[in-house]
Amino acid sequence: MKTLTNKLFRPIQVGPMELKHRVVMGPLTRSRSVQPGNIPGDLMLEYYSQRASEGGLIVSEATSISVTGGGWFAAPGMYSDEQVAGWKKITDAVHQKRGYMFSQLWHTGRAGHVDSTNGATPVSSSVNPEYWQDPTILESTPHGWRQPSPHRALDITEIPGIVEDYRNAAEHAKAAGFDGVELHAGNGYLPDQFLQDGVNRRTDMYGGPIENRSRFLLQVMEALVSVWGGNRVAVRIAPGGRWNGMSDSDPDALFDYVANELNQFGLAYLHIIEPRVRGNVVVAEGQYAIGAARLRKIFKGTIIAAGGFEPGTAEEVVEKGDADLVAFGRLFLANPDLPKRVRLGLPLNAYDRNTFYTFDAHGYTDYPFYEQHSESITTAVH
Ligand SMILES: Cc1cc2nc3c(=O)[nH]c(=O)nc-3n(C[C@H](O)[C@H](O)[C@H](O)COP(=O)(O)O)c2cc1C
Repeated sequence: MKTLTNKLFRPIQVGPMELKHRVVMGPLTRSRSVQPGNIPGDLMLEYYSQRASEGGLIVSEATSISVTGGGWFAAPGMYSDEQVAGWKKITDAVHQKRGYMFSQLWHTGRAGHVDSTNGATPVSSSVNPEYWQDPTILESTPHGWRQPSPHRALDITEIPGIVEDYRNAAEHAKAAGFDGVELHAGNGYLPDQFLQDGVNRRTDMYGGPIENRSRFLLQVMEALVSVWGGNRVAVRIAPGGRWNGMSDSDPDALFDYVANELNQFGLAYLHIIEPRVRGNVVVAEGQYAIGAARLRKIFKGTIIAAGGFEPGTAEEVVEKGDADLVAFGRLFLANPDLPKRVRLGLPLNAYDRNTFYTFDAHGYTDYPFYEQHSESITTAVH
């Protein structure tokens, strides 16, 4: 056993939070909310409590801002009082362990299915039939995995209403005791569907030049900041991200612009998914954290890098100064005590892809803590 890390365990101030370490739990959809109603229940409470650590930051799983924006079955929501009450128990438990928690706010846009949106047709920036016709793209529905439903383009008059849904969800997240909110603007969900020109074909003020395609994202950020103040708001982007049918003709120019515009808000952090991962799979093994390294030169605040990190590479990116913190996804879901394991150089549990999006405790709250399972010498594989 060797102690790998050093920089990852230097304290850091992020917005108003005094973090004791930089091993962040990244947002992970796990489909375990209570049905009907998409309510965080006792199982989710146990899962997040297990993963809370003193001075550590958890970003919640993507959380639907509205019924119509909630295209993923059993994802929790942030629009009803019951959901707020469920989340409040979770944030209380995280705070009890002196941890911090941000809520990741989610509108799935075209990546949805009518069986999960109460029959509402999914919406997007534009209509792209090739998306719902692609047999490789599947959504979780109450009836199993299905191709997305056909979507429609948002009328320009509807856009302020969606921004308002984000604002309401931000208010609910406050009532639920979170420390802040993170807008999910990566992985091909609604804000990303406006950003990237492989999808956005609008000809109005929300389409065409980069400034127009960024407008929706920036309006949502303004709404979130109006509720929380800039230093408790964050955003997650996926520069060069191709997951969920995304593409852009000039991703560097697009995300350079976005990162620069985000400087106006004084955000808690910018969360960057590296292009070496596509959704939950590494597609460019061994590639450096080029997304964080590039935007570091443009964004003036704290950066969380994510995607394909292991303890050694996480230490490296922080050491080099290309990121301030690192979020772990798959390793955190499989290791409830990940910060401790990283700090002490302990072996890691392997994750089980078959239980990522199932509905019970198996593969969710039954991953062992190191003490419970110290003979396991498995390491994660991609
Ligand atoms: C089961 C699972 C669920 C995920 N859900 C979300 C999510 O809700 N929001 C999000 O931004 N990213 C989500 N992701 C992406 C992860 O946050 C992360 O970017 C990705 O797993 C790559 O990081 P890793 O190599 O540390 O796992 C998910 C990934 C997995 C494996």
